[in-house]
Amino acid sequence: MMNWRALFKPSAKYSIIALLAVGIVVGVVGYFATQTTLHATSQDAFCMSCHSQHSLKDEVMSSPHGNNRAGIVVQCQQCHIAQEPFQYLKKKIIVSKDVIGFLMIDNFNTQAWLDENRKEQAELARDYLRSIDSSTCQNCHNRIYENQSENMSKMAVRMHSNNFKKAPEDRKTCIDCHKGVAHPYPKG
Ligand code: HEC
Ligand code: HEC
Ligand code: HEC
Ligand code: HEC
Repeated sequence: MMNWRALFKPSAKYSIIALLAVGIVVGVVGYFATQTTLHATSQDAFCMSCHSQHSLKDEVMSSPHGNNRAGIVVQCQQCHIAQEPFQYLKKKIIVSKDVIGFLMIDNFNTQAWLDENRKEQAELARDYLRSIDSSTCQNCHNRIYENQSENMSKMAVRMHSNNFKKAPEDRKTCIDCHKGVAHPYPKG
C-alpha cells in the first residue's frame, strides 16, 4: 500500500512538483495533438474517405449550400458536427464507431446502399440535429430569430417570429421545417 503521508515530507515536495510539470507538458502536447487530429478529421476529404462512392458531396454542390452567389461551400462537418468543444468531441467519438459500421455493413460504400438506406440514415442524421437544437445551422444563420436581415422574405420573417414567440420547449428546430437543405430528402 502507498504511504500517502510520505508525499507531504519535504523530500516529496520536489517529486510532486516534478509530477505536476510532467503532467502539464503531457497535457499541452496532448491538447495540440488532439487539435491537429480533430482538424484533419474535419475536412470533407475525411468524411468522403468512407463515403467516397456516395453522391453526398455532389448533392451539396448542387444545393444552395454549395451553389450560391457568395461562392460558399459548406463543409460536411459544419452541418453535421456540433462545433462546441465538448459536443464536438462527443460526436467525434460517435463517428469513430462508424469505423466498425464501415467494416461490418455489407456494400456500405456503394450508391445502391445509400439509395436503399437513405430514409433511415436521414432520420439518424435528423435525430442528432434535433438533439443539439440545430446548433450547427445557427452558427451561420444567426439572424433568424432576432435582428433579421431586411432582405429576408416576409413569409420567412413571419414563420420564424411565430416560432420564436413560443415557449422554448414548444419551438420547432430548424430542420423540423427545413428538410433536404443539402441532400434530396427521401420521399415516402
Ligand atoms: C470510418 C468511416 C466513416 C467516416 C470517416 C465517416 N463516416 Fe459517416 N457513416 C459511416 C457509416 C458506416 C455510416 C452508417 C452508420 C450506421 O447506420 O450504423 C455512416 C453514416 C453517416 C450519417 C447518417 C447516420 C447518422 O448517424 O447521422 C451521416 C450524417 C454521416 N455518416 C456523416 C459523416 C460526416 C459528416 C463525416 C465526416 C466528419 C463522416 N460521416 C465520416 C462511416 C463513416
Ligand atoms: C457554414 C455556414 C452554413 C451552415 C452551417 C448552414 N448554412 Fe444554410 N446557408 C448558408 C449559405 C452561405 C446559404 C446561401 C445563401 C445565399 O444563397 O444567399 C445558405 C442557405 C440556406 C437556406 C436558403 C436556401 C434557399 O433555398 O435559398 C436555408 C433554408 C438554409 N440555408 C438552412 C440551413 C439549415 C437548416 C442548416 C443546418 C442543417 C444550415 N442552413 C447550415 C450557410 C450555412
Ligand atoms: C416553423 C417553421 C420554421 C422554422 C422552425 C425555421 N424556419 Fe426558416 N423558413 C421557414 C419558412 C416557411 C421560410 C420561407 C419559405 C422558404 O424560403 O422556404 C423560411 C425561410 C428561411 C430561410 C430563407 C430566408 C429568405 O428570405 O429567403 C433561411 C435561411 C432559413 N429559413 C433558415 C432557418 C434556420 C437556420 C432555422 C433555425 C434557426 C429556421 N429557418 C427555422 C420556416 C421555418
Ligand atoms: C447545409 C448542411 C449540410 C451539409 C453541408 C451536409 N449535410 Fe448531410 N445532411 C444534412 C441534413 C439536415 C440531413 C438530414 C436529412 C435531410 O434533411 O436532408 C443530412 C443527411 C445526411 C446523410 C443521411 C442520408 C441522407 O441523404 O439524408 C448523410 C450520410 C450525410 N448527410 C452526409 C453528408 C456528407 C458526407 C456531407 C459532405 C459532403 C454532408 N452530409 C453535407 C445537412 C447537411
